[in-house]
Amino acid sequence: MSESLFVRLGGNEGIKNIVNDLVDLHAGNKTISNRFIDSDLPALKKAATEFFIAGTGGEGVYKGKDLKTAHRGMNISPTEFMAGLDDALDALERNNVGQREREEVLFVLYSMRKDVMGVCH
Ligand code: HEM
Repeated sequence: MSESLFVRLGGNEGIKNIVNDLVDLHAGNKTISNRFIDSDLPALKKAATEFFIAGTGGEGVYKGKDLKTAHRGMNISPTEFMAGLDDALDALERNNVGQREREEVLFVLYSMRKDVMGVCH
């Protein structure tokens, strides 16, 4: 597998589309939608797209908050985390991402769980 995950997800445009769908799915997912009531969704899409591009081997530097800071005080539960992963798989499917790439993205997101879940302070 020589191409970066970034390239295999469709580069800047592909990742933007995936993240836009992901944030829209979160906003409509009743397990987690309340978390985003006060969010600026276009700003969140932009930050999450940059995060994803930088993290998969694309150009640019992510200038948003680190994951622990971004989710501090939310005390996100395992059920909410799972709901977020479900949305990620849906978003990948909607954008016709291949099985292998879906597995890689899921693994990367899962491995970030300790910086996202149960962060109280
Ligand atoms: C591995 C999983 C996750 C990743 C990689 C992730 C990533 C991010 C990123 C990059 C930001 C933007 C930070 C910034 O604006 O500087 C963010 C913000 C946020 N995330 Fe997550 N997130 C994850 C899971 C979750 C889950 C499960 C929830 C809720 C159930 C959640 C709720 C939020 C909220 C409410 C914000 C702040 C939005 C705002 O500023 O209005 N995240 N996340």
